[in-house]
Amino acid sequence: MRVGILTAGGDCPGLNAVIRAVVRKSSALDHEVVGIRDGWRGAIEDDVTPLAMPDVRGLLPRGGTILGTTGLPPSVVEDNLSTITSVLERHGIESLIVIGGEGSLAGAEILAKAGVPVVGVPKTIDNDLEGTDYTFGFDTAVNVATEAIDRLHTTAESHHRILVVEVMGRNAGWIALQAGVAGGASGILIPERPFTLDAVSDWVDRRFASTYAPVLVVSERAVPSDQALLEEHGESDAFGSCYIPDVGHWLAHELHTKSGHDVRTTVLGHVQRGGTPSAFDRVLATRFGLEAVQAVIDRDWGMMVSLRGTAVGRVSITEAVGTLKTVPAHRYDEVSVLFG
Ligand code: F6P
Repeated sequence: MRVGILTAGGDCPGLNAVIRAVVRKSSALDHEVVGIRDGWRGAIEDDVTPLAMPDVRGLLPRGGTILGTTGLPPSVVEDNLSTITSVLERHGIESLIVIGGEGSLAGAEILAKAGVPVVGVPKTIDNDLEGTDYTFGFDTAVNVATEAIDRLHTTAESHHRILVVEVMGRNAGWIALQAGVAGGASGILIPERPFTLDAVSDWVDRRFASTYAPVLVVSERAVPSDQALLEEHGESDAFGSCYIPDVGHWLAHELHTKSGHDVRTTVLGHVQRGGTPSAFDRVLATRFGLEAVQAVIDRDWGMMVSLRGTAVGRVSITEAVGTLKTVPAHRYDEVSVLFG
């Protein structure tokens, strides 16, 4: 069988480990693999390349994706359905493995519903995909953020300053929560739990009172609960939800104005997404790649590979893309006693 593979949406550490596992298992079973470059762009513009064992040597520690990626919305798949199916036919691609986050898997779902033999592999550093306990990339991002928090503690303490660390997580606060707990943050702000400046100031005061300097971890989409404040400083995104651009710097300014303390902000940004995957992510990505090939062999179309506990299995792509997996209230509440 000839298997096509593409990576779509934002990159994330572990994508290459999936590609490697797919090529190695396929070639052990005498299947051919072809790579489609830059996600849906390559599927529409017929940018396809053979992938064999020599192409995947040394890929386990390599960040990014050797196939390239583009962040095109699912509507692009809908609008180009017949072009994509003719490209697949032209190359004799009998099954397609789509490695993507929520948006890209929604594109895969459109293909599956149109009868294209598709298998999904979930990826996102945000870990906000339903249907799987973990996505690869998340562990690496949490490790990068935790190391940064560790480093910021010592400089914050030396200068008796507040350090604000802004981390990624467009729709969910998983990276902030995990890295904040691992790094002993004085407070964690996530999109799921709007905050008050009074509560944050209280954490700051308590931390200074116990002689340590506060490190606050803020998710990029954390918002104040005060609607007037949000409207005054916020903007609406393409989906109409209101957020404060550059919230880390905004929070630092508000805290300085309120308390007079010296405050610095570090925005971690894409450093959380780049570079070599952690051992956990390499293993998870490898297991997902192997399971995706198994799903192809089983002709289990329209399914996404997933992790439940320690077991790799499959769920329908539709189940995975319907809703986002946000941080449940009890997960935030259980650690909030540590704030301050
Ligand atoms: O979804 C993953 C993610 O890294 C988010 O955490 C972040 O908001 C977004 O992608 C940034 O994407 P880009 O800079 O590629 O538009």
